Amino acid sequence: MGFTAAVVTVSDKGFRGERQDGSGDELERLLSGAGASAVARVQVPDEHGLIAGALRRLCREEPVDLIITTGGTGLSPRDVTPEATLEVIDREAPGLSEAVRAASLAVTPNAMLSRAVSGVCGSTLIINFPGSPKACSEAFAVVRPVLAHALELLGGRGGECAR
Ligand code: MTE
Repeated sequence: MGFTAAVVTVSDKGFRGERQDGSGDELERLLSGAGASAVARVQVPDEHGLIAGALRRLCREEPVDLIITTGGTGLSPRDVTPEATLEVIDREAPGLSEAVRAASLAVTPNAMLSRAVSGVCGSTLIINFPGSPKACSEAFAVVRPVLAHALELLGGRGGECAR
């Protein structure tokens, strides 16, 4: 399965260059392993307008098939990634985030604290992940088995749902 992807790292410290983008590195590695032919990397601070702007650009102007955001899904006052994502998407795909939260609860009760959302903007699937590299690899393992079929459906290549 060939697809294009982008990782949007949402972090004030990362944007200021005060923190290595370990989550972005991990997601780029995982996406390439899952068949992404290109993985764009974007870093934005925890600012609603800048997050939404980056997502819109990657959906509308330089469209990719899949965007994974990392960070800004928790409860701190500056955590606004879900709100910015909801502003951009046309339709929610709640099952993806529900599955990530449910599986993550087996790893840490803190999974309850992530307000991550997922959805579709145009023909791009957007999925929010939490901010740590560990959380990203745990979350990716959950969605990995359905990615190919999800992107097939989004691209209008219906395929069979019998699996
Ligand atoms: N999910 C998984 N799989 N693994 C984790 O380590 N950390 C949690 C949660 N989800 C975690 C996880 C923590 S500590 C928080 S505060 C929330 O995600 C929100 O993280 P974020 O604000 O970095 O997005």
